[in-house]
Amino acid sequence: MIEPPRIPLANLPTPLEPLRRISKICGINIWIKRDDLTDTAASGNKIRKLEFSIAQAIEENATLLITCGGVQSNHCRATAVLASRLGLKLHLVLRGKEPDRIDGNLLINKLTGAEIDYVSAEEFQDIDSIFERLSADYAGQGEKTFTIPVGATDEIGLWGYIECARELREDFNRHNISPGALVSAVGSGGTLGGLIIGNAMFNLDTEVIAFNVCDDVDYFVNKITEDFARWKQRYQQSLDIADLPIQIIDGYVGPGYGRATDMVFATIRKMATMEGIILDPVYTAKAFNAMLEEIAAGRFAGMSDIVFIHTGGIFGLFPQAEQIF
Ligand SMILES: Cc1ncc(COP(=O)(O)O)c(C=O)c1O
Repeated sequence: MIEPPRIPLANLPTPLEPLRRISKICGINIWIKRDDLTDTAASGNKIRKLEFSIAQAIEENATLLITCGGVQSNHCRATAVLASRLGLKLHLVLRGKEPDRIDGNLLINKLTGAEIDYVSAEEFQDIDSIFERLSADYAGQGEKTFTIPVGATDEIGLWGYIECARELREDFNRHNISPGALVSAVGSGGTLGGLIIGNAMFNLDTEVIAFNVCDDVDYFVNKITEDFARWKQRYQQSLDIADLPIQIIDGYVGPGYGRATDMVFATIRKMATMEGIILDPVYTAKAFNAMLEEIAAGRFAGMSDIVFIHTGGIFGLFPQAEQIF
């Protein structure tokens, strides 16, 4: 087995806390893993993956990172903050037009001084060619580039949530619970993929379930299966990945990626009011709202405890402020 390089960047371990009032209403103990507390400016789930992706970049003597995402990508914002923290240069390729108002994640990107290109959704489909062109251009300027894929989701980034599962094993022991399910949003697949492997590695003995906020089940099953195979080969792991269940519940994307229903905004208000927890309309509130609907429909019947992974995303709330009330 090969150990991946890692640099400590996140504030870990994050707390696992009970949601007392919401749990009472739902008739099941809902716990929340506070990965919104992994940092301030670089908070959320991406920093866990970037501990491995950026460590790999540093091991390869990179001077400049290249990555991509939507205009309000949490991943790009976390990478921008960490690149500046580590003295690395960064080039971001963002899908969409530069908005008139610089807000949320984009505001943080701009503050860090990252180089930003905006490309159309069509151009973004061929992101690999864009990455190749940028790498060649920068090589000509004497920079050594390292490319991180969307969401830092690849065989390297998987380690972030594999290691989170190790942390959860200790959380469960400390609180003396055996949750029936671990629940999260899935946007690029790395969080879910890591948790699935970690569940098997550290004997969490739970179901790992995610709600997709874009694309569909087939897309994510293919993506995660490919990343598992690359991870197994690259790190020479003996874990049998073929039989690991990839459980995604579709049907909650709503009007589309980044766009939420009134119910999702109502869930944001409810969680802030009742629990002091801030969710975002793109990922966490969509998944949390979906989980509440599935609890009501009986999907978690018979379980006494479940854990929701709060993957962050607070900066994505501000650009949608007008729709919250
Ligand atoms: C706040 C937040 N939650 C959840 C996710 C989904 O995680 P993943 O991309 O690992 O599927 C993302 C990114 O896509 C995110 O930014």
